[in-house]
Amino acid sequence: MTDAVDPLDAGERLGTEELRALQLERLRASLRHAYEHVPFYRESFDKAGVRPEDCRTLADLARFPFTTKADLRANYPYGMFAVPRERIRRLHASSGTTGQPTLVGYTDRDLSMWADLVARSLRAAGGRPGDVVHVAYGYGLFTGGLGAHYGAERLGCTVVPASGGMTARQVRLILDLEPSVIMVTPSYMLTLLDEFERQGVDPRGTSLRVGVFGAEPWTEPMRREIEERFAIDAVDIYGLSEVIGPGVAQECAETKDGLHVWEDHFYPEIVDPVTGEVLPEGERGELVFTSLTKEAMPVVRYRTRDLTRLLPGTARVFRRMEKITGRSDDMVILRGVNLFPTQIEEIVLRTPGVAPHFQLRLTREGRLDALTVRAEARPDAPPEAREAAARSIVAAVKDGIGVSVRAEIVEPESLERSVGKIRRIVDLRSGGDG
Ligand code: DLL
Repeated sequence: MTDAVDPLDAGERLGTEELRALQLERLRASLRHAYEHVPFYRESFDKAGVRPEDCRTLADLARFPFTTKADLRANYPYGMFAVPRERIRRLHASSGTTGQPTLVGYTDRDLSMWADLVARSLRAAGGRPGDVVHVAYGYGLFTGGLGAHYGAERLGCTVVPASGGMTARQVRLILDLEPSVIMVTPSYMLTLLDEFERQGVDPRGTSLRVGVFGAEPWTEPMRREIEERFAIDAVDIYGLSEVIGPGVAQECAETKDGLHVWEDHFYPEIVDPVTGEVLPEGERGELVFTSLTKEAMPVVRYRTRDLTRLLPGTARVFRRMEKITGRSDDMVILRGVNLFPTQIEEIVLRTPGVAPHFQLRLTREGRLDALTVRAEARPDAPPEAREAAARSIVAAVKDGIGVSVRAEIVEPESLERSVGKIRRIVDLRSGGDG
């Protein structure tokens, strides 16, 4: 680890006005690149009656049409690429819970930009050249493992490409190789926690100092749980394959106040998820991204379905996005009330005697949907406390969210553990996928 404070990179040292000028210049070039090289964008711009040169200010972006996951699927596999296939150096695919996966591609320059931004993210998280970085995001078509990997190398770290799974071995590697940074989904971090305890090793006594957690929603109470149990700093990293992968936005270790969007490369907007109208700064809605520097697969106004809001910059010039509440796809509508798994997470984690492991089971009773929160008892909690814990969860959901649910406190270690992205909702309604 180096002692001197590492300098920010050139992008991070821009002033606001310089940043906006750079964004506009890059935006215009990127719209032109998409229009000239991707038939899909040519058609969609033509249909909307806009030309790249119509973008004269950043606000003009609102005149351009959105791009959705369905558009990417319809152009599978290579239809969204703006360069000849020979110039695509790597492919990744997003998990795709239903049907067709979404394929994304990178040129050499894209891969280099991505590594730079993950390096920037890691540095913001508190990582430094010379650190040993344990990467437990899955390696493969998923962007988590390789994305984190090349970024950590770019920063000048020693990378342990552990990938996900083989949990006992992960603990061994952490004890033997003494990483100071771990990059992993928060839910798999909890699985690792169980394993440390099973092996009788104090998770607070490891070499780990920083955890860079993302790829799924997680809450402030979860941050406190992980920070206390491991004695580390836990910060949030965000990204999505369609935009680049991990390293679209990152929380800074010194402020932990939301994620700075690396908006010198990805221009964010917040829109009303229903009308698509751009919302004023500070309002909650759906996050939309336009890539500013991507070669292989530029995206124009890509609808992420992630819900958050934009806030002014603090530790960096770049605007922050608030921790993601959830995806519009993960929203449960229960008797007319919208509910996100993160809201339940907050409640479960503040309920005494309950472990941070929970699942939401959706069933149908007659014509109504019902939801049962299943949460695990903490191993040290007395069995007679379970009833009270269940009642307290039911009451907190009723008070805080305004809907009636059931709660069951189950045996420790009885719920399925995550090895990557966790699935919170088990849909047992007929026609559901669970
Ligand atoms: O999950 C990229 C990634 C890998 C990000 C490792 C961070 C760390 P996808 O598989 O395409 O890519 O899934 C993207 O995951 O639209 C969000 O819904 C969710 N997501 C990613 N990061 C966060 C986060 C990777 N920090 C989708 N908080 C996104 C909440 C997140 N949700």
